[in-house]
Amino acid sequence: MTTTPGNPTTLIPTPTPTPTGHGPDAAREAVVSAALAALDLDAKTRLLAGQDMWRLPALPEIGLAPLVMSDGPIGVRGRRWSADDPSVALPSPTALAATWDPDLAERAGVLLAQEARRKGVHVLLAPTVNLHRSPLGGRHFEAYSEDPCLTGRIGTGYVRGVQSGGVGTTVKHFVANDAETDRFTVDNRIGERALRELYLAPFEAIVENAHPWGIMTAYNSVNGPTMTEHRYLVNEVLRGAWGFDGANVSDWTAARDTAAALTGGLDIAMPGPNTVYGPALARAVRDGAVAEAAVDTAVRNVLRLAARVGILDGAEPAVTDLPAPVDGEALAREIAHRSFVLLRNEPIRPTAPPAPAGPTTPTGPASPTPDIPDIPTAPVLPLIPGTTTVALSGAAARDARILGGGSATVFPARTVSPLDGLTAALPEGALTYSIGADPSTEMAVADRGFTLRTVCRDADGEILGTASAPSGHLQWMDGDLPGGVTHDRLHTVELTGTYTPRASGTHTFGIRGAGAFTLTLGGRTHFDALQAPAEGDPFEALFGPPVPRAEVDLIAGEPVEVSLTQVVALPADLPLRIITFSLTHQEPRRDPDALIAEAVEAARAADTAVVVVATTDRVESEGFDRTDLALPGRQDDLVRAVAAANPRTVVVVNAGSPVDMPWHDDVAAVLLTWFPGQEGGAALADVLTGAEEPGGRLPTTWGTLADAPVTEVTPTDGVLDYREGVFIGYRAWERAGRTPLHPFGHGLGYTTWAHESIEAHADGPTVTVTVRLRNTGDRPGRETVQLYLAPTTPDPDRPARWLAGFASVEAAPGESTEAVIELPHRAFEIWHEPTASWSFVKGSYEIQAGRSITDRALTVTTTV
Ligand code: BGC
Repeated sequence: MTTTPGNPTTLIPTPTPTPTGHGPDAAREAVVSAALAALDLDAKTRLLAGQDMWRLPALPEIGLAPLVMSDGPIGVRGRRWSADDPSVALPSPTALAATWDPDLAERAGVLLAQEARRKGVHVLLAPTVNLHRSPLGGRHFEAYSEDPCLTGRIGTGYVRGVQSGGVGTTVKHFVANDAETDRFTVDNRIGERALRELYLAPFEAIVENAHPWGIMTAYNSVNGPTMTEHRYLVNEVLRGAWGFDGANVSDWTAARDTAAALTGGLDIAMPGPNTVYGPALARAVRDGAVAEAAVDTAVRNVLRLAARVGILDGAEPAVTDLPAPVDGEALAREIAHRSFVLLRNEPIRPTAPPAPAGPTTPTGPASPTPDIPDIPTAPVLPLIPGTTTVALSGAAARDARILGGGSATVFPARTVSPLDGLTAALPEGALTYSIGADPSTEMAVADRGFTLRTVCRDADGEILGTASAPSGHLQWMDGDLPGGVTHDRLHTVELTGTYTPRASGTHTFGIRGAGAFTLTLGGRTHFDALQAPAEGDPFEALFGPPVPRAEVDLIAGEPVEVSLTQVVALPADLPLRIITFSLTHQEPRRDPDALIAEAVEAARAADTAVVVVATTDRVESEGFDRTDLALPGRQDDLVRAVAAANPRTVVVVNAGSPVDMPWHDDVAAVLLTWFPGQEGGAALADVLTGAEEPGGRLPTTWGTLADAPVTEVTPTDGVLDYREGVFIGYRAWERAGRTPLHPFGHGLGYTTWAHESIEAHADGPTVTVTVRLRNTGDRPGRETVQLYLAPTTPDPDRPARWLAGFASVEAAPGESTEAVIELPHRAFEIWHEPTASWSFVKGSYEIQAGRSITDRALTVTTTV
């Protein structure tokens, strides 16, 4: 394998293109130049370092306000990591990609800009455009796809949308942060072709087509240097060859060396105030370790960003005409149903009438009715409300899992669970609910049933201030303290209030965090001691499993007083003062077999069974990778048992990335809802009842771990070798000759389509493809036309085919429609390593149009 050079030995100047000439860009640049000239070295270096977790410092001498950044990507959390500053939570990035609709991604971006402005945020730390290289990747849910073309198109729409609202983006994580194991230290060894054709490709497309105002460099190294010090990829490729003129911000704490970061093209070191920039950078200039001109280049990039978002006096912001307001809840619901992928929807013969409501007697599985041969069979979905009873089960049907874990977490003002959504959509009495199986094996942050607030006291017990506490998780960064509270006087923080149980039995309460805690329940102290970090690892104490500290028998509906106090007195010289701990709780545990039996009884008594299965935040999250794709707990057993009791079993998979489905062939339908965002349950009801069509197509191949060709996420001696080269995702499945459970691009709707004709028109290297298709079903529908390009003479160094273009069409029943798709020049190119350049591969290609990479209805051959 040839790998790309790390940093070349000669020093490359930082070639940030500077807008010249006339017009708003040039006028803004003139203001930037004047501001830069007015700053001394100390002010300049200060600007390049975070002032705190999310902000750069203000520089009043040039009329610069503090630039505020925030995660990203499914909502705008704002400066507070807390549920008392709620945000609209959209479906996960995998879901957005599953819509295959860059225009919808753009509308999502417009909403996020609106949210950012509402929260005083200037730059959104998103989108994440790393690739699904291995299904084990812990942040899989936060990236779009295994395919660079789809990722680039969705990312382009997203960035355009956010920036059309005058808010900056940082496309992340540049580059190859495709797994989490040892993410701070891993050196990903990637051949130049794979790097260019796969991992860099989405970044390149977004820079070219959406002109992002920012980029975030990754923790990991690529072929030697860490990405915060990668002169070659940042200065030569990103800024030089692609012409990126935005600011480059480090991933949080990723900047490690003052001189290497600056010469590696890093503009902003986050978070602060303790970073390798700021005073350390001023010293490095004075010592002659780095040139002041390099500092000026970085400051210019930051000032340009500040000018674009409108916080530099005298500079006209890049956007002066804001888009029309967006209804966040409606958009979250629309994206959700447009993203749901119906993997399977089998015809089911009519079943015997359901047993009467009320206590049921076990009568064995409801049997199909072979004695009614004339009744046509129909797919189980959509359900017809009013004609069907539904037995819903699964813990996630009640306690919705709407988003993945880690920095992508936001706190919505409301969530609609599947149970909420179906209760609203189905007639009274048509729905039953049973837990069936609970995938979470540990306590969760105190939430439902708790009414809490925080009380801050000084060492004498005098109250300094109070704040609301929407959940049992408290996380205050520097500056987030409630009004009237200061770090020097603050001694204890108490979370206090009541808990009203929804189930009788033994409840477990616990604590996540490190420090001195007191936990009291109903006036009785259950814990009053130091909770130390596990084996001295502070990270584990903050984000690891909570520790059970009390077991209390409670009665459903009878409130109990709860209080958790932490002594928080923090030393004044800490680099970053964060107060964080959680009150955690678990409902009475029930016998897992009894839970399944209950769900089976309910399923047997209903026309249709809907089982929601899910991963937990111990399975899919930033910070670690998965070790397998199994659903946690007894969920597989639950599905098998319900399916045996009711042939009309619909499984709803609530996960951000592939999971094993050993029961797949035994159930009537499988609907993948990803992490569907705050309105997920409403969108689920829309789709199950047929009010909306499931619009998603798989953005990533769905197969078992055993069959997946590329899985490795664990470095060996610090190195992760991308030895598979350009063969990841469907490219690898096809090369290995393996058939996944569901291929890339797959997804069913509620109508049927006939692909009628395909034509390709080549004009030099530009090929325009027209596909005609007809809606042959009996309801309006939307279809994603996918074009794959396959060299007619197979080349073992190239994939058998690859996604080259796609478009969505809509048509009424019986109507025909047309998709016109232009294939980009790049679709025919490969990276030619000997000349280090793109090379257009002339020859004959099949253009294959269809519904997935394996369902290719039409083919036309073209020669370019
Ligand atoms: C993540 C970034 C995120 C940053 C700030 C890092 O750990 O990798 O994606 O933007 O934290 O929360």
